[in-house]
Amino acid sequence: MQKIILDLDTGIDDTLAIAYALGSPEVELIGITATYGNVTLEQGMRNDLAITDLFGHSQVPVYPGLSHASTKDSFTVLSGSAFIHGKNGIGDVEIPDSARSAESENAVDFIIDAAHRYGEELTYVATGPLTNIAAAIAKEPDIKNEIGKIVIMGGALTVSGNVAPWREANISQDPEAANALFTSGAQVTMVGLDVTLQTLLTTEETQQWRDLHTAAGDFLSDMTDYYIRAYAKTSPKFGGCGLHDPLAVGVAIDPTLVKTLPINLKVDTEDPTRGRTIGDKDKLNDPHKTTQVAIGIDVNRFLSEFMSRISALAKGKR
Ligand code: BDR
Ligand code: CA
Repeated sequence: MQKIILDLDTGIDDTLAIAYALGSPEVELIGITATYGNVTLEQGMRNDLAITDLFGHSQVPVYPGLSHASTKDSFTVLSGSAFIHGKNGIGDVEIPDSARSAESENAVDFIIDAAHRYGEELTYVATGPLTNIAAAIAKEPDIKNEIGKIVIMGGALTVSGNVAPWREANISQDPEAANALFTSGAQVTMVGLDVTLQTLLTTEETQQWRDLHTAAGDFLSDMTDYYIRAYAKTSPKFGGCGLHDPLAVGVAIDPTLVKTLPINLKVDTEDPTRGRTIGDKDKLNDPHKTTQVAIGIDVNRFLSEFMSRISALAKGKR
């Protein structure tokens, strides 16, 4: 069975990514590596432990990652984050703290060990800043050829960004780390705003979780409704919330959900376009392309997979 690591800044849609992975019979979630972004590293780990417990999967270990960007020495949550994800990252819904603690091994070493141990069988999915994976590749460059699949949620190639017209949130947190990953030679699939903003969830779907009358169903519906309300204020035209992070997990499990463009991608690290994901002109004629950017999506098939997998988990069937 495919082994999967999720690297998360947990976050409402990161929580939906956990639910998608746990609801998928094709994969075993062997660990969550924590990062900063929507919330601090500490709050993210707290959420990861509490959420996996609530979903009945307290076997999933959580590893502490790096607490700030590779070029900084601290991290402060952006002022807009609480509006989108709630102060606690999960829509201000209260769920019990876990009795467990995070592992003593750090995320970077866990990623390296898992790459050596599982090789091709390992899928690594990042849905936050790319600080941990960039540090792991810098420490042990061979892992870029060992890991079976690297899929990231981040970036925007054919549409504008969500932090600035040229900048998506996850890439924006650590452009140097993102650029290091894209130019490392590793094969990476980028699931960016190009496709994630085509996958929208409404209160009609969250009501289906509420109707299950389970603790997991109540949590998922209350939390996701917070996110839907934020989207209704910031992006009323969409008519729902973007399923950014679970789509990355969906694509990791079934790449046929998206159409991809092979390209040698880089991230601008200098102003005025710092944080932009763009094709590397110097590698335009290199026939060996290292990034697959998702630019088309089978929306209906993804939404149906999303609902059936997460509902099965919330019913206690997975
Ligand atoms: C990304 O930014 C975060 O707020 C979300 O969790 C998602 O990973 C979308 O740009
Ligand atoms: Ca995220």
